[in-house]
Amino acid sequence: MDKTDETDKIQTAYLSLKSKIDLKPRIGIVLGSGLGDFADSLQKDAVIPYGAVKGFPVGTVSGHAGRFVFARIGDKPVLVMQGRVHYYEGYPMSDVVLPVRVMALLGVKVLFLTNAAGGINRAFRKGSLMAITDHICAAPNPLIGPNSDFLGKRFPDMTEVYDRKLSDILFAIAREENIPLQRGVYYQCTGPSFETPAEIRMMERMGADAVGMSTAVEAIAARHAGLRVAGVSAISNLAAGFGEELSHNDVTEAAKLYKDNLAKLISGFVERIEV
Ligand code: HPA
Repeated sequence: MDKTDETDKIQTAYLSLKSKIDLKPRIGIVLGSGLGDFADSLQKDAVIPYGAVKGFPVGTVSGHAGRFVFARIGDKPVLVMQGRVHYYEGYPMSDVVLPVRVMALLGVKVLFLTNAAGGINRAFRKGSLMAITDHICAAPNPLIGPNSDFLGKRFPDMTEVYDRKLSDILFAIAREENIPLQRGVYYQCTGPSFETPAEIRMMERMGADAVGMSTAVEAIAARHAGLRVAGVSAISNLAAGFGEELSHNDVTEAAKLYKDNLAKLISGFVERIEV
C-alpha cells in the first residue's frame, strides 16, 4: 500500500467514525482479551461496532467484542476500544494500528493500553497486574513503509514510550486502593502460537517480565502520533515452561481475578489525569 492509500484509509476511517458522534474524548482506552467487561459498566453515549466504521479491521478473536464505546468516567469523556485486532489474525500491521491513528485524529491525547499476558517474572502470579515501564517489540515495526508525515516524524524517539508521570499516577492509585501493582517490561511477539519454554528463557534473559501478542506496536504508533501512553498487563497465566499447558481459555478465566482492580486503576487514572 503506498502512502496515499494508507493516508486515505486512516482519513476515511476517521471521517466515518467522526460522522457518528459529536464528542471529543481526549483519553483513549484499549481493553485487551477478557478485559472488555469494564466498558459494560460505563455510562455510554454511543456504541459503534468496528464493522460500522469504513475501512476498519474487524477482529476475529473470542473474548473481544470489537466495538468503540464512547462513555464518561466521572465527567470526562473517554473513547474505549472493547477489543482490538492482532497481527496474527492476518491483517497488515498498518491495519492493526489504524485504530490508534484514528483516535489520534479524533483528538485523543492519552492512550491507556491493556492486555492479557503471560508472566515471565518469577514474582508474578496468575492474576497479577503489571504497569508496563518499557517494551521489547519482536513484531514488525508498524512504522515500516512510507511515513505518514501528517501523523508524525520518520524516526520517532522511543526512550520513554510509557510515560513516567502516567505510571506514577497508576502507582499512587494502587497504593491508595491497596491494589498490588507490579512493574515491568512487556515483550510483544506475533503469536498466535504460544511461546516455547526456550523462547521464554530467552525473553527472561533479555529483561522481559511479561509476554503477549499486542500493545507494543500500538504504543509505537501512538508515540509516533504524539500521544502519551500508559499500559497495564494482566497476567492471565504463567509463561510457557513454568508448569501448566497454555490455553486461550486462561485469558477469559483469569479475568475474574483482576477485573475489579483493573477497573479501579482505569477509573482512578481517568479521574486524575489532566488532559
Ligand atoms: N504468551 C503470549 N500471549 C499471551 C500469553 C502468553 O503466555 N498469555 C496471554 N497472552
